[in-house]
Amino acid sequence: MNKLTLTRPDDWHLHVRNGDILKTVLPYTARRFARAIIMPNLKPPVTTVDQALAYRREILAAVPSHLNFTPLMTLYLTAATSLEEIKKAAQSPYIHAFKLYPAGATTHSEAGVADIKSVYPIFEALEKYDIPLLIHGETAAADCDIFDREQAFIEQLLQAIVATFPALRIVLEHITTREAADFVLAASDRVAATLTPQHLLYNRNALLAGGIRPHFYCLPILKREHHRQALVTAATSGNPKFFLGTDSAPHPTHLKENACGCAGCFSAHAAIELYAEAFEQANALDKLEAFASFYGPDFYQLPRNSDTLTLIKSTWNVPDVYGSEAVAITPLKAGETLAWKIRD
Ligand code: DOR
Ligand code: ZN
Repeated sequence: MNKLTLTRPDDWHLHVRNGDILKTVLPYTARRFARAIIMPNLKPPVTTVDQALAYRREILAAVPSHLNFTPLMTLYLTAATSLEEIKKAAQSPYIHAFKLYPAGATTHSEAGVADIKSVYPIFEALEKYDIPLLIHGETAAADCDIFDREQAFIEQLLQAIVATFPALRIVLEHITTREAADFVLAASDRVAATLTPQHLLYNRNALLAGGIRPHFYCLPILKREHHRQALVTAATSGNPKFFLGTDSAPHPTHLKENACGCAGCFSAHAAIELYAEAFEQANALDKLEAFASFYGPDFYQLPRNSDTLTLIKSTWNVPDVYGSEAVAITPLKAGETLAWKIRD
């Protein structure tokens, strides 16, 4: 196949930051996707509807004028999230979900929740108002091996949440293990998962073989090859529980190439092209459109997009770095060749 026309896709998990980084990265997403679920882990986090609306305006101001792009806002769930704020979010057409970070699990998660049981009244309200709960599914327990943290979260916390709130719509974000895929498969249709390009394309050797490669460091961390294979199987299965969420998470290059490099892979520059690569490797390009363009809006109860995006088989070289000297961001596949290109 040399040409692939898809209903325009959406990105159901995206970090765009604010300020200069926002202006640098947003055009890449807006060029490919019609909408994106915007993560609220700014510093300070986006915890109120008013903050989300101000952030939304800042994002819209960064969309190039020739493109149509709609940011779908989320709120950062904290132990202090009030029932009034949830009600206000439910009434806003711009707020689409709450994001749960276990405190200490990942980048900018300090404001997250330390005792998950203590926020059950919040989950109850989200269930009542039918607002999706997006979960960073990793335990932050320091004594848990970093490669086991997703599975531990599922066993110790997620199973109970799903059992206690059967009508709550949950997205287990950026799943990285066979256990997570199996859990989502076995759960009701209220439970779905997003999958990133890096977890479909790479296993943990990419991080460590031949040297430490900080641009592959994200959380949840890349896992063993058999997990990657299980994720590819899930993504290409045609099951509507699994849909596209890049988790593109830009950080300045000098903060990644650092004695304590931060977590996050920037993939917005080639997001749909990277998924095309993964689906083609699995001989499943025919499954890409539904994964990228149908199952996400269906889960979020939003209309599917009506325009299209065309990919052509034509190699191109990924730049070593995006942005300016002031904001340099190293992308996934920096300096490498990609097989699929979006048609201008
Ligand atoms: O690798 C990650 N980066 N994982 C996350 O959960 C957060 C993200 C970020 O904000 O940089
Ligand atoms: Zn994320």
